[in-house]
Amino acid sequence: MIRLLLLLLGTLGAERPGQRVPAWYRADGRDGGPDRGTGYPGPDGSVGTDGWPGGPEALPPWRDPAGAIGRSGGGWGGRGPRRRRIPLGLKWAAALVVIGLIFRRAIAAVVLMALSFLVLSAGEFHPFAPSLGLARLPLFSPFEMANPDEATVIATVQRASYAGEFRDTFGARVFEDQALAFKGVLMALETYQQSPEEFYPYSSKYDAWLRHQATLTSEESRGLAAFNDPAKGNCARCHPSAMREGAFPQFTDYGYVGIGAPRNARIPANADRRYYDLGLCGPLRTDFRGKPEYCGLFRTPSLRNVAVRRVFFHNGALHRLSDVVRFYAERDSQPQKWYPRAANGAAQKFDDLPAVYQGNVDRIAPFDRHTGDPPPLSERDVADIVAFLNTLTDGYRPEPSNR
Ligand code: HEC
Repeated sequence: MIRLLLLLLGTLGAERPGQRVPAWYRADGRDGGPDRGTGYPGPDGSVGTDGWPGGPEALPPWRDPAGAIGRSGGGWGGRGPRRRRIPLGLKWAAALVVIGLIFRRAIAAVVLMALSFLVLSAGEFHPFAPSLGLARLPLFSPFEMANPDEATVIATVQRASYAGEFRDTFGARVFEDQALAFKGVLMALETYQQSPEEFYPYSSKYDAWLRHQATLTSEESRGLAAFNDPAKGNCARCHPSAMREGAFPQFTDYGYVGIGAPRNARIPANADRRYYDLGLCGPLRTDFRGKPEYCGLFRTPSLRNVAVRRVFFHNGALHRLSDVVRFYAERDSQPQKWYPRAANGAAQKFDDLPAVYQGNVDRIAPFDRHTGDPPPLSERDVADIVAFLNTLTDGYRPEPSNR
């Protein structure tokens, strides 16, 4: 009974077998790029500049390929609050529910459902269409598309190449009824986000390897080993890489942790030395204000498709994947390479956190070294791990010889 109920909940609003899904429903995800009309994130979690006409140079400011202020200037024309980069796509949150359903772990699914209900009920959320609430978040978030209101979103869709298909689906006069048109937009996004083959295809080389349909190169397998090895990267401690109970790994444990990313001076709000983005405890989030133990903690992101991202960490402090991996190797053994020096020449570790909160930063391997110690990862380990992370990009086409 529970299972049936869950399945029903999970499928409501989703594509049903035999139901024709109009092409425009999927227009934003087709080419791995964003929706050119509304700027909605592509299936890679909102990166992918390749599909954009004119290449990265022609990107609108909110795509910010140079990563000057993180991934995003925030909103149309980069006029947003300029304090954060765009957060990870919402697909993995949605995937949690779907995974629970697919693997019919009824109890896990109930817990996940309950959690999703709790989280989403804070926003505008319809219980029978789990992602309608989720689907609207990036449209209005000041760090993402920053549309001022629903009318702006609808006007954009009305001008888009797929406006005709939108009318075919929702009625010739749909644009005359703002509430209906906006519901149509959300339904379309929801349908897209619930199409596993497009939204969470698990089509990376690593997934193929897990299915025994691909072979990792020796560099990639050394990288995987170093990634998992508690004495080396120990990355899987927070970014689990193994299948669990038949589910493909998400490369995040969904936990919050402080790793002490260096301050990004190019974030406009950071011009004020007294301004700190403390993550879980604010100032952008307000529900954990006054809980000092949460200050400096950020969500561990998924590493799926990480190789196509161009800026890393919540504040966009780093721009190369190899530097991110090297940061893990050297944060404690060679902090002077990552943090500015104080007047006395010592590295000012964790310069993006007030001293009172620096105790919240993680100190377990690979973060267990002292200044001058040998780093836990050699340069070769770093290169190997980067090669491995490159196997997490969706869209791998197995060579005939790999089959
Ligand atoms: C203690 C938990 C923890 C461990 C161990 C850990 N990570 Fe992370 N990782 C995080 C958190 C938290 C973030 C986000 C930090 C932020 O936004 O400031 C992150 C971010 C990243 C990112 C940037 C992703 C993005 O889109 O910005 C990469 C790449 C990454 N980790 C790779 C690794 C690798 C490789 C290792 C092993 C060498 C590793 N991580 C070990 C918690 C961890």
